[in-house]
Amino acid sequence: MRWRLLCLIGLGLFIVGACGAPAAPPIATAVVNQAATMSIAERVEALLQRMTLAEKIGQMTLIEKNSLTPDQVRELAIGGILSGGGGYPTTENSPQAWAAMVNTFQQAALESRLGIPIIYGADGVHGHNNLYGAVIFPHNIGLGAANDPLLMEQIGRVTAIEMAATGVLWNYAPGVMVPQDVRWGRAYEGYAERPDHVATLASAFLRGLQAADVVAPQRVIGTPKHFLGDGGTAWGSSKTENYALDQGETIGDEAWLRAVHLPPYQAVIDAGAQVVMASYSSWQGTKMHASSYWLTEVLKGEMGFTGFIVSDWAAIDQIDPDYYRAVVTAINAGIDMNMVPYDARRFIDTLTRAVQAGEVSEERINDAVRRILTVKMTMGLFEHPFAATELIGQIGSPAHRELARTAVAKSLVLLKNEQQLLPLAKSIPHLFIGGQAANDPGMQAGGWTIEWQGKTGPIIPATTILEGIQAAVAPQTVVEYDRYGRFSGDPGADDAVCIAVVGELPYAEGRGDSAQLSLPPTEQRALQRMEEACARLVVVLVTGRPLLITDSLPKWDALVVAWLPGSEGAGVADVLFGDRPFTGRLPVTWPRSLDQLPLGSGTGEPLFPYGFGLQP
Ligand code: GLC
Repeated sequence: MRWRLLCLIGLGLFIVGACGAPAAPPIATAVVNQAATMSIAERVEALLQRMTLAEKIGQMTLIEKNSLTPDQVRELAIGGILSGGGGYPTTENSPQAWAAMVNTFQQAALESRLGIPIIYGADGVHGHNNLYGAVIFPHNIGLGAANDPLLMEQIGRVTAIEMAATGVLWNYAPGVMVPQDVRWGRAYEGYAERPDHVATLASAFLRGLQAADVVAPQRVIGTPKHFLGDGGTAWGSSKTENYALDQGETIGDEAWLRAVHLPPYQAVIDAGAQVVMASYSSWQGTKMHASSYWLTEVLKGEMGFTGFIVSDWAAIDQIDPDYYRAVVTAINAGIDMNMVPYDARRFIDTLTRAVQAGEVSEERINDAVRRILTVKMTMGLFEHPFAATELIGQIGSPAHRELARTAVAKSLVLLKNEQQLLPLAKSIPHLFIGGQAANDPGMQAGGWTIEWQGKTGPIIPATTILEGIQAAVAPQTVVEYDRYGRFSGDPGADDAVCIAVVGELPYAEGRGDSAQLSLPPTEQRALQRMEEACARLVVVLVTGRPLLITDSLPKWDALVVAWLPGSEGAGVADVLFGDRPFTGRLPVTWPRSLDQLPLGSGTGEPLFPYGFGLQP
């Protein structure tokens, strides 16, 4: 079998050499043509034997798209390219520009000596969220409140379509963290505080994302992250920037890690995970990226993970100030592809030196490349390396937006409802709406939206919560909106109801670590004005996590948490006015006070327990 492929390759090389025709290098063609008669494992081995050390290390290199040219992709045989948070094309943020960007890099890769396609990745953590016009789903904490596996599978499918249409066939999602401290800036990226809850929803999302019939005849690959214990770090243990929790030291002994943080990974492996991203966090003083025990003995050995492990963004660099030592440690620990993400040559030269010095074995390199090539072949990348542009018409489609609107409605949790104020009648004579979050697409989407940290304002095509309310009420209803809660009408009148839609400003990762868990001052002032002026006050919180509201709660007649609903804000009105029922339940415990964090700390009952949700 193998000799036949090698002869074919040799013949192809001769033909190209003789004619000088700049055809796609024979190896890619040969690999594709052998799909019918050779297994993936056999084709991987045949390819591996043809590769030089430089080409092998090139495949282990993942570079940010602004940091290299297509010529360098070809020269260095780069294995992967990514768009980090906000990594849309510099030309314009459109599906066509994305597809052109990815395809240009891909064509260069196919023109390399071996013609191995790159895998292009981005964070599609709540839709293809770097792309303007993509449908933006609720962030995971809201989907945890909805707790609907079928819905998750549908969201995975739609996300795959919208990403594949632009050539991004590798999604750095789902996050399978199990947040134990909601002060964490990534709490909203987690589905829930319980591993079984996370496992069920993450597996469903991954099955939808990676389904063979969604993009067919290729597929999008997910990346459960971040292995291991990212959501269980101790306050003040981070050494990154001014982060407090993110990238810190995970609390607990091995039994605790295995009970709380590990189960979702077995679930997503069973659901077909082919890539796992390692965590910046540490455990017992060792960086996860440096832990051969957890990465190799446990994940690859005990749990049988046969895919590849990708590092996080420059995470290897954190292992040791000596870059050579850091690279040797990480690759020997089990990292297969390094999200460098800037200086490709520095990584390639460093790892080459380590192999030549015998500090990283050829076998370790071959194992990493074997894993990477296996994923690329499994997902159909050799046969279909380019953007599935025939799907562009589905991006942001009414059907996709309707799914997101359903997800929003299912994510809402009703926490207080005095005198059964909710659901509201659509014929209310006077409605007074206040709060910036009522009319701000960027706030309702949160971080990881167009920009890494997200951004307030009209950054995406969306239906705001206010627009949803205005569309829901009767024509004769008078709706007055003021973001500061200052009204010309009388919000205290007998026929008036107030809705304060207030929320957090967008954030991502450790920049969102919060010691206060409070609303921004302008939103607090708007809320206070409405607490004083309104006779009946409904509060809708737009937030990535529980906030400390214990003292204010008695002033509110009703309380709904909408989490970070994304582009389809009308889903909030659907439930406020009774078109859809309240079904959401808390996926995380709502603390009464800071001393109850991390989960399980302090004394007394929480303000609202995990699983709480009223259904009027
Ligand atoms: C970030 C995040 C990770 C993301 C990666 C690429 O730092 O930690 O979740 O997938 O970089 O954007």
